[in-house]
Amino acid sequence: RKDLLGIRDLSSEEIQTILDTAESLREINLREIKKVPTLRGKTVVHLFYEPSTRTRTSFDVAAKRLSADTYSIATSTSSMVKGETFLDTIKNLEAMGPDVFVIRHSASGTPHRIAARTSASVINAGDGMHEHPSQALLDMLTIRQKRGRLEGLNVLIVGDIAHSRVARSNIWGLTKMGAHVTLCAPPTLLPAEAASLPVRVSHQLDTVLGAADVIMVLRLQKERQGQGLLPSLREYAVFYGLDRKKLEKARDDVLIMHPGPMNRGVEISPDVADGPHSVILDQVANGVAVRMALLYLLVHREVPPVRG
Ligand code: CP
Repeated sequence: RKDLLGIRDLSSEEIQTILDTAESLREINLREIKKVPTLRGKTVVHLFYEPSTRTRTSFDVAAKRLSADTYSIATSTSSMVKGETFLDTIKNLEAMGPDVFVIRHSASGTPHRIAARTSASVINAGDGMHEHPSQALLDMLTIRQKRGRLEGLNVLIVGDIAHSRVARSNIWGLTKMGAHVTLCAPPTLLPAEAASLPVRVSHQLDTVLGAADVIMVLRLQKERQGQGLLPSLREYAVFYGLDRKKLEKARDDVLIMHPGPMNRGVEISPDVADGPHSVILDQVANGVAVRMALLYLLVHREVPPVRG
């Protein structure tokens, strides 16, 4: 068992193991000596074919805290610009004996194709509109840290769910862990398969805000949207942007989450993003612990696979 490709095929026990491991590794991040020799002599290669700030940096920080050697391949400076195929790139990198590939790619399924062709572990760091498993795991860790549990909580996901790999991974993860998920978006920003997902669906934010323990706000992903009947940024902000006025309808102890990057003033107002309900930077901090756990568990082959 070697790869983390998605949350959909993980069991609740596997998710629990990853979250428990991350929780214990989080302690290392709080101590003065931040480095442990767990992955000394191991090599992690980051292959990011889409932009990233949080995921790429936190995988790198996580690997270094476990004493692994890390290398980053940037598309613009790799030989892919000379016409080398992605698969040939992987074969050549594999010949150098890496232990883990961390892959982000705009095409859904790319990490799965690579995983089938390499003996190294492959971690999906976001593939097209399909999945972003490490993001969902850090989101679940953050909710568990703040609320002590996932089971029975009402999680409201608001925004561009149709184009969101974060939403897909969270829907699978949260529902497997016993949370109730509600999706709220204009019809054109809901996925075609929404009716077959284990979720409730709403188009009116003010009717679903009051029941939420957690509100997960998503960015409008212009880079993936086509030319359909989409709301303007202004319209979107009026009806679905989370601001202080709308937040008055929410519970006093509601948690506000956002995977980043944020478009302030569109899906979330600055005062809500930086306000007392926001756990957005806790999510980022937990990202390091979750990615340390994934690297540790996969290199030691303790997590069953997540293929498909
Ligand atoms: N949440 C997330 O994936 O952020 P980045 O695109 O900056 O990695």
